[in-house]
Amino acid sequence: MAAIQAAAALRAEGVDVVDFGAGEPDFDTPDNIKRAAELAMRAGKTKYTSTGGTRELQQSIIDFYAATFGAKYERNEVMASCGGKQAIFNAVVSLIDPGDEVLLAKPYWVTFPEVVIFAGGVPVYIETEETGFVLSAEQVARAITPRTKLIILNSPCNPSGRVIPPAEFQKIMELLTERGIYVITDECYLRFVYPPAEVFSAASLPADLRKRLCIAGSLSKTYAMTGWRIGYALAPREWTREMLKVQGHSTSNPNSIAQSAAVEAFRGPQASVAAMLAEYTTRRAWLLNALRSIPHLSCNEPEGAFYAFPSVRECLNDKVRTSAEFAARLLTEEHTVVTDGAAFGAEGYLRISYATSMAQLQEGVMRIERFVARLRN
Ligand SMILES: Cc1ncc(COP(=O)(O)O)c(C=O)c1O
Repeated sequence: MAAIQAAAALRAEGVDVVDFGAGEPDFDTPDNIKRAAELAMRAGKTKYTSTGGTRELQQSIIDFYAATFGAKYERNEVMASCGGKQAIFNAVVSLIDPGDEVLLAKPYWVTFPEVVIFAGGVPVYIETEETGFVLSAEQVARAITPRTKLIILNSPCNPSGRVIPPAEFQKIMELLTERGIYVITDECYLRFVYPPAEVFSAASLPADLRKRLCIAGSLSKTYAMTGWRIGYALAPREWTREMLKVQGHSTSNPNSIAQSAAVEAFRGPQASVAAMLAEYTTRRAWLLNALRSIPHLSCNEPEGAFYAFPSVRECLNDKVRTSAEFAARLLTEEHTVVTDGAAFGAEGYLRISYATSMAQLQEGVMRIERFVARLRN
């Protein structure tokens, strides 16, 4: 937040700031989706809906998972929510009792520990640097204790962009099933995966591995709909019923007009998703190459999402001792916003979002290179 405010203050002074902090697409919501919202308003779809969303939206979510992953979900196993964030919140709050341990792999999305703590749970962090931030079944096994109730998996990961390979994902799910541990898979970046990596959902696993699984999904990134606030959960009936209670006594149904727009997103033409993906693919290739050519910087391959997560550890010295100081000085000296990895539990790293134009990427990377060169002299 401090960085966002500092960047806004610089912009207000007329400074040309390059912003790699964005956690949302730089594209506008596709027109067919906007039109569906207009029509919904005109048709009077402006009233409360069922807490878990309209029949049409629930069915579109079920149909998408059936067509894409061959998964069979019933209507009492699905609910729409106000963004993927609320799905995760509902799932954690309805499950966790005080003192329950919840496994979170580092680096983690900042909301995970906060929700766990809110629910009275205890976040237990899994270090994954040794495997380049790709979580393995072995690492999960080492972290399990008799108090472990839940794990939250996020692949593709925000902030690292890393993807758990499907075979390893299945091994993790087998282990968790054997140990009776609940799972939330955060599929916010589900469809942002770059070949040769492949789109994978735990929904495609056999039903006996999904008995304690809640899939939390979102339309925010896939359809550039961050402001519309539509996400969803797919989970066993009993868990869904408990989640509906949380939602029913907090926000109630997600926005009725946005729900109609979401139905169009799922059922309408998907060309805009392909176009956005193609653009991210080009930017990602350029960025990864450019970052890796900066001396003293290293970067794992982010197979998904729209972030790169380079290490700046080799650049740190007695002038700039932490990644937070690196990010702060990059902003004041080179007017470039990046997110400090320590915020995600990974000191020494930076998150760079490529949800911005090629021109901005080129300018910003040049500034980072100049800054690193100065630090090393
Ligand atoms: C990993 C991850 N999960 C979930 C979300 C939630 O997205 P929303 O609530 O907009 O659907 C985000 C948003 O930044 C995210 O990065």
